[in-house]
Amino acid sequence: MTYSKKVLDHYENPRNVGSFSSEEKNVGTSLVGAPACGDVMKLQIKVNKKGIIEDACFKTYGCGSAIASSSLMTEWIKGKTLKEASCIQNTAIVKELNLPPVKIHCSILAEDAIKSAISNYYSKNILLKKNNKKHK
Ligand code: FES
Ligand code: FES
Repeated sequence: MTYSKKVLDHYENPRNVGSFSSEEKNVGTSLVGAPACGDVMKLQIKVNKKGIIEDACFKTYGCGSAIASSSLMTEWIKGKTLKEASCIQNTAIVKELNLPPVKIHCSILAEDAIKSAISNYYSKNILLKKNNKKHK
């Protein structure tokens, strides 16, 4: 199987590799796995007070397409609102990276990762709000 130039570029120069402290309340973290192959993707977002993703990072233990999908995802979500980011579909990644059918699940991993990072962010902040109320 040959990888597209874009996949190779992200694989060679992955954007936004790293981690944020998941303790911080404006950080949403996800850790998702692909049942098809056992690969794992961690994606984190840093959200500002306006609900905009101001930073994002990832670590992926997996194939080149999974690394490229997560790298591309972090590029796409920066500057987007949580709502906009949650609308990104794996099919857009497949198109951009020209992924073959056997690699579609790698892009689904990236879609799952952003959705789950967003819901982690929301659940953390809803819990925080509840706790704040309790203490008042
Ligand atoms: Fe080995 Fe995905 S199955 S990298
Ligand atoms: Fe499983 Fe790419 S082969 S994520």
